[in-house]
Formats: sequence, structure tokens, C-alpha cells
Amino acid sequence: MSLARHIIFLGAPGVGKGTQAQRLSQYLRLPHVSTGDMLRASVQSGSELGRRAAAVMDSGALVSDDIVMDIVAERLTLQDALAGVIFDGFPRTVHQANALDQLLQHGGSQIAAVLHIVLDDEEIVERLSGRRVCPVCGAIYHVRYHPPRVSGVCDQCGAALLQREDDQPEVIRKRLAVYQAETAPLVAYYHDRPAYHRIDGDGAADEVFARIVEAVREKG
Ligand code: AP5
Repeated sequence: MSLARHIIFLGAPGVGKGTQAQRLSQYLRLPHVSTGDMLRASVQSGSELGRRAAAVMDSGALVSDDIVMDIVAERLTLQDALAGVIFDGFPRTVHQANALDQLLQHGGSQIAAVLHIVLDDEEIVERLSGRRVCPVCGAIYHVRYHPPRVSGVCDQCGAALLQREDDQPEVIRKRLAVYQAETAPLVAYYHDRPAYHRIDGDGAADEVFARIVEAVREKG
């Protein structure tokens, strides 16, 4: 049996992790594992976990490491994760990164690439303020940069698009501050590993994707 080779997208809120992770998932045929999407699905299901996560997420803070590690560990046991997954928004703290290393060591799998997307805060705010998402299939749009064919309607499944609760200006500011305090230290955590790659997130989504494909190919 071959080892799982996982890919991690790292970067501030709004740099394009979800957009690029969805593309790379199709390109490499590996599942897209977004902890944000999984937590939002729990919130929608009305589960106990979802109720606990909802208030935290709407405020822009991070959900507890224990909850996140539980949902990730469970996700990795599914059959489709055996060859590897594309993590989006995970790990998000040094504690989560350590826990992931231990989990992978036990399972004999490894991190094939850490794709750190970088972008100016000004552009991040512009991207998040105009974001619209499909609550049914998860497609991501932007009112200006990537509008749907019919305003407010998902191209892929026809559902009504929504603005995320945490895409309000004051919550965006909080999320950026939380990123600096809790997640930015992960850059130092991964920086010296051969898997680490810094990706310029500026430019059209196609251009950024081309940089990502190049980086992933380099990592073999
Ligand atoms: P999560 O859902 O992970 O959100 P995030 O990290 O804040 O990232 P975003 O989804 O906001 O941005 P993105 O980088 O994916 O950008 P996107 O591609 O959408 O987390 C939400 C919350 O869940 C957290 O705050 C926390 O509470 C909790 N959580 C999740 N994971 C956790 C964890 N591991 N630990 C603890 N808590 C956790 O793009 C943004 C916009 O830009 C879109 O409109 C898109 O169309 C547009 N766009 C993308 N690329 C381009 C481009 N190249 N040019 C122009 N526009 C572009």
C-alpha cells in the first residue's frame, strides 16, 4: 500500500485557499478537506458540536484545537483519504500542526507540500467583502472578480448564494488579527521543510493556480 501524501494550504483569511484548494482537488483527484466547511456543516446540522462552534466562528475566533483535531482525525479514516487529502484552513495553530505530525507519523503518511499563499491585507479585505458562497455545493464567487452568470444564483447547482456571517468588516478585521496571533507562527514551523512553498496570491485565480501547480510538481 502506498503512503498518503497530504497537501496543506496555509495563509490568511481571504487569500484564496478555498478557491485554489477546490481547483487542486480536481487536478490531483484528491479530496478537499476544509475544516471551515466541515464546521459550517456541523452548525447547519444543529448538532451539539455545531452549536458550540457557531458563536466562536461568527466572532472570528478559532474553534478549540480538540474539536478540530477530532473532526480531522475522523475524516482521515475515510476510504477516499488513503492516498492523501488537500487541507484548507488546517492546521491553524502550532498545537494543531504538532498533533497532525503525530497523527501522520502513526499512520506512516507524510506532508507532500505546504502551500503558503501571501497577499496584501487591503486586497484580502476587498476579496472577502465581495465573496458569495453556495450553501449547497460550496462553490465560491466574488461579485466583481468571479461573478455567477445570474446574479445571486450558483452556476453549478442553481441554489441562492449567501454572504458568510464572518465576512462582515469588523469580523474580517478580527479574523486577520487572530491569523497573525495564532496561525502566522506556522510559517516558521514549516518554513525549513523541503515541502514548504511560498506562493504569490496576487493576480487572477488562473495565474495563482499555475504557480501552485508548478510548486506541487517540484515536490514530485
Ligand atoms: P475558514 O472557512 O477556513 O475561513 P478562512 O481561513 O478565514 O478563509 P476563507 O474561507 O475566508 O478564505 P480563503 O483563503 O479560503 O479565500 P477564498 O478562496 O474563499 O474558517 C472559518 C472559521 O472556521 C474560522 O474563523 C474559525 O472560527 C473556524 N475554523 C476553521 N478551521 C479551523 C481550524 N483549523 N482551527 C480552528 N478554527 C477553525 O477567496 C476569497 C474571495 O476572493 C472569494 O470571493 C473568491 O472568489 C475571491 N478570489 C479568490 N482568488 C482570487 C483571485 N486570484 N483574484 C480575485 N479574487 C479571488
